[in-house]
Order: sequence, then structure tokens, then C-alpha cells
Amino acid sequence: MNYNNLLISIEDHIGTITINRPKKLNALNKETISELHEAFKSLASNDEVKAIILTGAGEKAFVAGADISEFANFSVEQGEELSRVGHESLFTFVEKIEKPILAAVNGFALGGGLELAMSCHIRVFSSHARVGLPEVSLGVIPGYGGTQRLAQIVGRGKAIEMIATAGMIDAEHALHINLANHVVSPDELMDETRKMASKIIKNSSTAIAAALRCVQDCFDKNTDGFETEIKEFGKAFGTPDFKEGTTAFLEKRKPKFQ
Ligand code: COA
Repeated sequence: MNYNNLLISIEDHIGTITINRPKKLNALNKETISELHEAFKSLASNDEVKAIILTGAGEKAFVAGADISEFANFSVEQGEELSRVGHESLFTFVEKIEKPILAAVNGFALGGGLELAMSCHIRVFSSHARVGLPEVSLGVIPGYGGTQRLAQIVGRGKAIEMIATAGMIDAEHALHINLANHVVSPDELMDETRKMASKIIKNSSTAIAAALRCVQDCFDKNTDGFETEIKEFGKAFGTPDFKEGTTAFLEKRKPKFQ
């Protein structure tokens, strides 16, 4: 598929999606959201791909938010629809992908940009990145999962502070509150993110997918995550990767996972 707003590459089993609207600071318009859905779906179902990196084109922004020019005149119904479609097609969709998704946050991640980074499983920040949820300064609230995922990641008090002040924090601050997993220099961002992805994909993809399902269920109010873990743990014993991993350990060699 050809994308107007994305660049896609696959190298060494790592798929990379680059949001490519640098003149608009990679703001998420409707077309970009729809293309991101297709790109994630395609990489998630591609057996060659074991991990996915998401980043933004240019040095200035990861994503500067939802495209304000598209929703400035929306009605109540259109606002709700915008949020619902976004949740289903992109933000929750990405979070539930059973391959590790790493956000390489290369600059501003504001509003929907930070919400997208928070839908990813791991966040590596460039030291010059600045992030925040400025929605209340526009008279609206975060509508792509920001009120939920920020509270899950940094805790209720810090989340409410960030949302209510609408302010930006720098990368070091984000690291301090566990919003960033790591902070690296801008020059090293993609290499370091790829290094982490490479380290992850040496392990069993089947086991990683099961672990992601368990962590996901930790935050699903209708599911007992401990029960999911017990079941997934048991299921692992029936997988070729478990046989290979344990045999390789006992034979003092590196495992060759499927
Ligand atoms: N939606 C639509 N367009 C956006 C955008 C967004 N969220 N963020 C940036 N842009 C556009 C600007 O309109 C501008 O376009 P133009 O050159 O055609 O006028 C271009 O991107 C560059 O942005 P600009 O504001 O000139 O850059 P800056 O360096 O002065 O400021 C920011 C950078 C990120 C501080 C500023 O762009 C900003 O505050 N953006 C909005 C962030 C936001 O509120 N996001 C949440 C949306 S709910």
C-alpha cells in the first residue's frame, strides 16, 4: 500500500513507521490516523516483523497532536465520534498488538502525540523531546486515551497536574516520572531504539505476545490479569519455543526460536 503521510521500512525483523508530515509537525489528521491503522495492521500480521518502531519525521516533532484545523468546528456528536474512532482504530488498536511497539520520541509529543506514544509499549525519548497534554488550554480534554493511560503510567496526581496545567515537561522530567523508559541524545535515538528492539526480538516472540496479553489485562477492569497469567503460563508449556528455550539452556547453547 502507498501512504501519503507515512514512511515504512522493514530491516532485520524490525518494522519502522515514520509519520511524515514534518511541515505540520506530524499532526494527526484523519488520513494519517487511517494510514497508521493500516500500517500497524499490516506490520502486525507480517511474520517477518517481530517488533515495530514508531517515530516522527524531522527533528522537531514526534507528533504535535491531533490536527486542530480538522475539528475546530465539530459538534458534540462529531467530537464523540472523533474520539471513538481514534480509540478503536489507532490508540487501543496499537496497545493491543501482540508484538512489542517502541516509540522513538524525537521531539514534541503533544496531545494526541503523547497519547500515541503512551499507546506504544515502550518509550525512548530524545533529550530534546518535550511532551504534554495541552487540551484544556483549547477548551477540550484529552480524547485519545490520555486521561487513562497517563494516570496508569505516572500515577493519578502527576497525571492530573499535567492535564490540568496543560504544560509541557522535558525529557529528563519524563524519565523521572517513568513516562520515558530511556532518554538518549538526538543522534543516538534511532540506533538506541533499534538496539533495544533487537535485544527484545532475540527472545521468544510467542512468549512476548503472551506476556503482552497479561500486562494488557492488568488494566482491563473486566478481566482478572492474574488468571490470564496463570492460563498463559500454562499454555507456554505447550509451545515449541518453550521446548527450544529449555533444551538450549540445558545444552548450554543459545536458543533458536521459531
Ligand atoms: N494541528 C494542526 N496543525 C499543527 C498542529 C496541530 N496540533 N501543531 C502544529 N501545527 C502546524 C502549525 O499550524 C504550523 O503550520 P503552518 O506553518 O501552516 O502555519 C506548523 O505546524 C508549524 O507549527 P508552529 O506552531 O509554527 O511551530 P512552533 O515551533 O512555533 O510551535 C508547537 C511548536 C508544538 C509549540 C505549536 O505548534 C503548538 O502548540 N502546536 C499545537 C499543540 C497542541 O495543542 N496539540 C494538541 C492538540 S489537541
